[in-house]
Amino acid sequence: MKIGVVQFRPELFKVERNLQKALDLVKEFDGDLLIFPELAFSGYLFSSKREVENVSKFNSSAEKRWMDFSKKKNCALIFGYPERSNGNFYNSSMFIFPNGKKRIYRKTHLFSEEKKFFTPGDSGFFVERFKGVKVGLAICFDWFFPESFRTLSLMGADLIAHSANLVMPYCQDSNVYSSLKNKVYIATANRWGKDENQRRILEFTGKSQITDPNGKIIAKALESGDILVEAEIDVSLSRDKHINIFNDVFEDRKPAFYKLNGEKT
Ligand code: ACM
Repeated sequence: MKIGVVQFRPELFKVERNLQKALDLVKEFDGDLLIFPELAFSGYLFSSKREVENVSKFNSSAEKRWMDFSKKKNCALIFGYPERSNGNFYNSSMFIFPNGKKRIYRKTHLFSEEKKFFTPGDSGFFVERFKGVKVGLAICFDWFFPESFRTLSLMGADLIAHSANLVMPYCQDSNVYSSLKNKVYIATANRWGKDENQRRILEFTGKSQITDPNGKIIAKALESGDILVEAEIDVSLSRDKHINIFNDVFEDRKPAFYKLNGEKT
């Protein structure tokens, strides 16, 4: 499977313009799966729920465009967006398949002021199979909790599609070791540049990357610039959890000793 990671800088709240720019960026893509950043087409730095509500009005237009793209190219897509559901907003990723199916992941671990605008995700982690590859979804700050990538890997993920708007400088290095320790591919589609809203400024770290189950960086973007980076996924690497002939890092786990004192299960 050939995957593409899209590093992108949306203009805050200019959803239609951002969608058009993103479509232009990937129009020549001839691979199987495209992964976009968190809140890919709205921007990130909100100052009120009203702003989240306003950008969420473009969700159906974004979904339709990417559904059309997916069918035409026989390629799946994953992008972050501000989902609205029953009066709540979730920081979500939509996984779109060429047959018209979709699956939504709601960010489990909200970062910083996101807690003012979004409800913590209740979808839980899951893995979907596409063209023989098992794909799990995570969003940005989920990376900080080792349980996120571990859970997806124990569920059988070959590839973790990690849509991000990273602001701290640690994730790209950490993902090298998360890939190694879980023997899993991690594709981090990050945004770059700044958001400015009401005299507040937030800067994002770029450096989108794909790491393989041996902890090798197999594709990498620079700190800035809209760009599509690509890599091949080989499931024979992610399905073999050995690090030498004696150690299989999943079979060698000792869950009986991972419980806290007094914990029942
Ligand atoms: C983040 O979770 N957007 C840092």
